[in-house]
Amino acid sequence: MIKRLLPYLFALVSGSAIAAAPAVPLMESGANIFDKASLQRGAALYFNYCGACHSLQYMRYNRMARDLGLSEQQVMDNLNFTGAKFGDTIHAAMPAGIGIDQVGGEDWFGKAPPDLSLTARVRGTDWIFSYLMSFYPDPNRPSGWNNTVFKDASMPNVLWDRQGIQMPRAAAGEGEGGHAGAPQFDLVKPGSRTPDQFRQDARDISAFLEYVGEPAALERRAYGIWVLLYLLLFTGVAWLLKQEYWKDVH
Ligand code: HEC
Repeated sequence: MIKRLLPYLFALVSGSAIAAAPAVPLMESGANIFDKASLQRGAALYFNYCGACHSLQYMRYNRMARDLGLSEQQVMDNLNFTGAKFGDTIHAAMPAGIGIDQVGGEDWFGKAPPDLSLTARVRGTDWIFSYLMSFYPDPNRPSGWNNTVFKDASMPNVLWDRQGIQMPRAAAGEGEGGHAGAPQFDLVKPGSRTPDQFRQDARDISAFLEYVGEPAALERRAYGIWVLLYLLLFTGVAWLLKQEYWKDVH
């Protein structure tokens, strides 16, 4: 019985891993949602570089403020560019372009910028990181950009002023049975950030989007420590009880 159930149990446990199975080799983000400074930097970058096009429809400004340790004033002054209220969900500054009269993202990019609330859960944090790291100029694309992780994506490299311009390097061994590992790039024009600093930018944004995808993960760890302590304590008590009961038998 158990043996027959095992594959299903395994599938349940590894479901998220399967859903996020990468079609292309990904880079490791090293994102850490328990690093509050990283989340705060990620949020600042997000609202300055991404929030014009993308919404976070399941996140509210006030919840984000609480979780990231920001005051209402800080959020409303520095992160909210849409005039939304503190308790509102996070909409894109730009309309998505539904209907004929309303011009918006869909008309400009051929594809409406999707909501990013759950992207980290669907695609994975490393996917987002790799995507942000993998833009390169391509004159054949309407936006002028292409991406090795998301081929022919209609999103331009919005971080190019920070990253600079990079070109994909033909990987060693390519053509002889393909190549393993994420593609390499050569920086042809430096940006305002060094490559290490830019990697940190991409890591911060990825961490922020991972947090947005599952805000409860922050609290869960806080509870988890108490649950473990309780179990430890209970084990001690149970052991003492056992000693007490079996004293007379032995
Ligand atoms: C100028 C508008 C615009 C801006 C600004 C922008 N994006 Fe996008 N983004 C798009 C569009 C359009 C797509 C859809 C691409 C497609 O499907 O071809 C997209 C797709 C994505 C996706 C893939 C989502 C999915 O699951 O398919 C991610 C992740 C993403 N953007 C992250 C970001 C991040 C992070 C930033 C800020 C650094 C950002 N975007 C800024 C327009 C934008």
